[in-house]
Order: sequence, then C-alpha cells, then structure tokens
Amino acid sequence: MPESTDGVWSASTLGEEREDAEECMPIDGSRILVTGGCGFIGSTTVDLLLRESAPERIVILDNLAGGYVANLERALKDPRVELIRGDIRDRDTVRAATNDIDLVVHLATQRILACAEDPRGAFEVMCEGTFNVVDAASQAGVQKLVAASSASVYGMADVFPTREDHHPYNNRTWYGATKLFAEGLLRSFHDMRGLPYVALRYFNVYGPRMDVSGKYTDVLARWIEKIEAGEAPLIFGDGSDTMDFVYVEDVARANVLALASEAVDCVYNVGSGVETSLLELLQVLLRAMGREDLRPEFRPVRAVNPVARRLGDVEAAGRALGFAAQTPLAEGIRELVRWRRAGLGYQTNRCNFTR
Ligand SMILES: NC(=O)c1ccc[n+]([C@@H]2O[C@H](COP(=O)([O-])OP(=O)(O)OC[C@H]3O[C@@H](n4cnc5c(N)ncnc54)[C@H](O)[C@@H]3O)[C@@H](O)[C@H]2O)c1
Repeated sequence: MPESTDGVWSASTLGEEREDAEECMPIDGSRILVTGGCGFIGSTTVDLLLRESAPERIVILDNLAGGYVANLERALKDPRVELIRGDIRDRDTVRAATNDIDLVVHLATQRILACAEDPRGAFEVMCEGTFNVVDAASQAGVQKLVAASSASVYGMADVFPTREDHHPYNNRTWYGATKLFAEGLLRSFHDMRGLPYVALRYFNVYGPRMDVSGKYTDVLARWIEKIEAGEAPLIFGDGSDTMDFVYVEDVARANVLALASEAVDCVYNVGSGVETSLLELLQVLLRAMGREDLRPEFRPVRAVNPVARRLGDVEAAGRALGFAAQTPLAEGIRELVRWRRAGLGYQTNRCNFTR
C-alpha cells in the first residue's frame, strides 16, 4: 500500500482499490460522452468501444483545435455516434452534451508545447474547460468519469519504475500542473458531490493517428519524415534519454477498462512498464522502415524537455483494472509506419456536424 505522507497521497486515491468501490458500470446500453474524441487517443477509444462493446450512444464533443474528423471516418458511419463541434470552455455546450449521459471519457486537451506557448489559453482549456466537464458530469449524475492525466505530473521522477504515490513536486511544466489541477478537482468533486472518477496517467503514447502534420509533432513524427526522405534523423543529446512508450490501442483499452471497472476515486499509471532509450526507439523505427543503413545526426541537447527518464510502475492498473499493455514496441511502430505510408497522416476536417 502506498504510504500516506501529508494526507494528500492516500492509499484510497492512488493506484489502490477502494473498499467502498461502487457497482461496476456496464458499458453495453450506456450513453457515453467523449471529449476530445476527434483526437489521437479519443478516436481510438471510440473505435474500441464500438468494436468490443454495445453502447447505446456515443457523443463526441470536440472543437477540432487539434483533432481531425477523418479520425472518426469509420465511427461516424455508425448511427449511434454523434459528433458535436463544440468547446469545453463553453459551459452551456458542455452541459447540453452531458445531458442524459451515463459515462464520460474526458480527453480534450491543449498539447504540452502549446501550453508553454499560450499559458492563458491552456488555463482556459485545461482548467476552466475541465472544470466545466467535471461540474456538468457531477450535475448529470454520471456513473463514471474517466479523465486523461499524464506522466508529466511526475516531472523527472526520483524513483523508477515510478508508482502513483510518487510526489508531484518535480513537475516543472504548466501542462503537468494543469493535469495535477484536474486530478485535485476530480478528487474534491468525488468528496463534495460523490462523482465517481478514475484518472489515468498516460506515459508516452504512440501509434496511428498521432499528429504527424501539425505544429506540435513529437520526435517519432519528425524522424519518420526524415527517414522517408532518406535523410539522417536528428537526435538532440546523446540519445540515452528514456521513455515508457505505450501503444495507443493499449491506452484506449485502459480507458474502456476504467469505465467498466469498479475502481472509483483512483489514479493509475498507463504505460508499457518498459523503458526504451531514444537510440533504441530509432533502431526499431529504422528497422520498421527498412532503412537500417541510415545513421542519426546528433545535435546539442534542447531545453524543451528536461525529463531524461520515464518508466511507469503499472502494477496497480493491472490489479485494479486488469490493464496490461499488450503491444510490443516493434509491432506498434510497424503499425504506425504502415498507417503513415498509407497516406493517412494528412487529415481533413470536412463533416456534417449534428449540433
Ligand atoms: N498523446 C500522449 O502521449 C499523451 C500522454 C499523456 C497524456 N495525454 C492526454 O491524453 C488526452 C488525449 O490526448 P491526445 O494525444 O489524443 O491529444 P489530441 O490533441 O490528439 O486530442 C485532443 C483533442 O481535444 C480537442 N480539443 C482541444 N481543445 C478543445 C476544446 N477547448 N474543446 C473541445 N475539444 C478540444 C482537439 O481538437 C483534439 O481532438 C489529453 O488529455 C492529453 O493531455 C496524452
């Protein structure tokens, strides 16, 4: 059991099952709201819900600030799926979208680099917007709200693998701070209004539909571009920084498991539990792209990300949710490359919105 230090990190809220866990909410026959459902993780979660369960309705609320309607191409053919082009910053929109909803998956976000570039905008989306979602969900009496938190809350952790009861004071990013705000908000709404929630701290998510064409693409997307052009991929630093890469479908499965689980008022890591250096990642990518002849070019380290190591302890999510990442890195990277080469990386936003 995690130790309670100052009363903030109690065993009941950090990766452990509560004794007063509520009845498990069946997904079949339920009405589900997914905020940020046009995004990378949201659209994959919607597809998984449709493929492996039988919800009565899925309502997606997304303002397309970062997501793509094309991600929902398959899902929108299903008459149970409704897409609302709307903003979580708009209280009335959120309240209307939450009407008659049983389950909420809250994923809408401003990305980490965009948070640093536009802190006030991030405050409005991540803090006010999340408040609107949490408030509306509790007013509507939803059975479960699953919210995306992030491994960013740990910053450069002191202990590896990092457990959920690790303190959050090494986080030095505004993005991570907004995720901590969201976790605190959820916890307080659980105690004030009985809101049943689970927050999931995703680690480094990758896979098809990750943003490869936007302004804030990550290292994998940039490498794929370079390698495809036959150029040397750039590594800032010596490539020894590590991450815990988790495939997007595994993350989507964690969302679904959390929705259906008895766990309430808990926070879980969602990672692969495998530590991979940037150099190892590049080797896997070069192999998947058939370009093992290319060598990286090393550049001076950049100040963008001060976190040199990430590795999540995923035991608690395994125990409470039955979660375990299933996709090996080489397989997930092959899927990413296949998707990218199929030309699906450049997405459009043409669609008939229902509201
Ligand atoms: N991708 C990762 O590696 C990662 C890691 C940790 C946590 N997360 C978290 O997971 C969640 C999903 O991330 P993602 O990678 O799918 O991001 P994404 O950018 O692909 O999706 C986010 C979606 O939110 C929508 N959105 C943005 N602002 C909105 C607003 N004001 N109102 C309504 N919709 C809005 C965007 O249009 C987009 O479709 C986020 O909360 C993110 O912080 C992601």
